[in-house]
Amino acid sequence: MSETTIDPADFRKVLGSYPTGVCVVTAMDGDKPAGMVVGSFTSVSLDPPLVGFFPDKKSTSWPLIEKAGRFCVNVMGSDQQDVCRSASARGDEKFVGVEFTISDHDLPVIANSIASIECRLYSVTEAGDHWFVMGEILRMETVREDDPMLFHRGRYGGFAERM
Ligand SMILES: Cc1cc2nc3c(=O)[nH]c(=O)nc-3n(C[C@H](O)[C@H](O)[C@H](O)COP(=O)(O)O)c2cc1C
Repeated sequence: MSETTIDPADFRKVLGSYPTGVCVVTAMDGDKPAGMVVGSFTSVSLDPPLVGFFPDKKSTSWPLIEKAGRFCVNVMGSDQQDVCRSASARGDEKFVGVEFTISDHDLPVIANSIASIECRLYSVTEAGDHWFVMGEILRMETVREDDPMLFHRGRYGGFAERM
């Protein structure tokens, strides 16, 4: 039992004041790509090299990624709004018009991402109505030095430096 009552609307409003980056976590579902947009991605540990994110227990894409046992984190650039919109939709159309290649680890690597981080599934821990998933890095690459996509209060945007 939780000790406090938190209003869901307050939770969304207050936590929505914290901006995130945006990535698409991908895997192969047989011969088809599967994936989901994730704002909860974070680096976790250098030794061993671990990253993590939090899929919703209601996600239909996460079980496909879990079954694959590995995943690729595709860090979105500020010019990849179309990819973010397609990949965050439910259903079979997520990869329509999205260019990708299949890596040596049999993972979809989305073209023109800022970085790609290929992982093997390391652990899955229960975290309320989400899972806390960690992956151990198998291969990582910065593809281009451009600005990343950011997400704040339901809107996509870019990074502006304050001097
Ligand atoms: C910017 C952004 C960040 C998101 N972050 C997460 C996340 O961290 N965890 C999650 O489960 N879903 C997140 N979502 C929702 C999923 O991307 C997506 O809508 C959902 O997974 C689609 O349903 P499916 O998993 O059944 O395919 C995010 C969506 C957007 C647009």
